[in-house]
Amino acid sequence: MIGREGGRILVTGALGQIGTDLVQSLRDIYGSEMVIASDIREKPNHPCILTGPYINLDVLDKNKIFEIISNHNIKIIYHLAAILSAKGEENPELCELINVEGTRNIFDAAREFGLRIFAPSSIAVFGPDTPKKAPQITPLNPTTKYGMTKVDCEILGMIYHQKYGVDIRGIRYPGLISWKSPVSGGTTDYAVDIFHAALSDESKYDCFLNDETRLPMMYMDDAIRATISLMCTPIDSLSSARCGYNISGVSFTPKELVSEIKKKLPDFVCNYKPDIRQKYADSWPDSIDDEVSRNDWNWQSRFDLETIVSEMISNLKSD
Ligand code: NAD
Ligand code: SER
Repeated sequence: MIGREGGRILVTGALGQIGTDLVQSLRDIYGSEMVIASDIREKPNHPCILTGPYINLDVLDKNKIFEIISNHNIKIIYHLAAILSAKGEENPELCELINVEGTRNIFDAAREFGLRIFAPSSIAVFGPDTPKKAPQITPLNPTTKYGMTKVDCEILGMIYHQKYGVDIRGIRYPGLISWKSPVSGGTTDYAVDIFHAALSDESKYDCFLNDETRLPMMYMDDAIRATISLMCTPIDSLSSARCGYNISGVSFTPKELVSEIKKKLPDFVCNYKPDIRQKYADSWPDSIDDEVSRNDWNWQSRFDLETIVSEMISNLKSD
């Protein structure tokens, strides 16, 4: 796809959980020099900075976005810069600003320069009135500020697509589980933190959700494959779900995750100490109906809970 468009890829928010994996995968496919990582942060030893071009970019700086696109012949943007759910509730104004205004800047740039955009959404678009298995089409009434910004961005994406013909695509990612990057600011973070704690000398974790909280989750390899696959799908195959496709990986509770971890690390102990993040998790569905993605672009997940636990433990042990 990039060859046809003859330009380079820009990734915003590249030093975060998804960017750490996505930049590497894109560089493996298209070549290091073709993929420019960017973030508001500076982390000199980050793999995205060590393995290819990196630019410091605040997505609220519209002039700089336009300058980078024109100076570096950018044709596609994977727009990952955002504030996640828990941090968003602590600072709703910042969440609104970065998630919505930052995204609007990227969409304006796409309109001006004729770019294609990947702008992720989240299971946080759903609210307490969503059926436990969330359908693709259902009223979106999130109770978190973060979820509201994600609904706004899906709608904004559809407006830019319908009114200005901009090719914007997005996935409602479940909680993502990965080992290459630390996580912070999200509600599903427990499912990553727990592995680091389980492998520590103490082998003990205080989980901030209760043991029965079932949430939709996905291993990062599946999420990256879904992302690149959606961006490579011919435009005519996409439906009105284009800015927020449901995708399903695996659904589990902390108790089920602990039981799977204990098969490999029998001495691991998990205590349950729910905090404010329990409320956000309780407003989200248990699982996701992804029939539309399976029909439109042949989506199919590969990793189940057993495989995720095994991959996480072996990768973190050898890291
Ligand atoms: P993350 O918090 O790990 O990374 C976000 C990155 O954005 C950080 O590196 C941060 O420095 C950067 N950033 C923040 N403000 C910025 C600004 N003004 N300009 C430029 N960069 C800025 O998040 P992530 O998990 O990698 O998520 C990426 C995208 O995927 C987000 O849109 C998020 O809502 C979505 N998503 C993630 C998950 C998940 O479980 N990780 C689930 C659903 C949706
Ligand atoms: N994983 C994200 C969070 O917990 C959901 O988008 O905030």
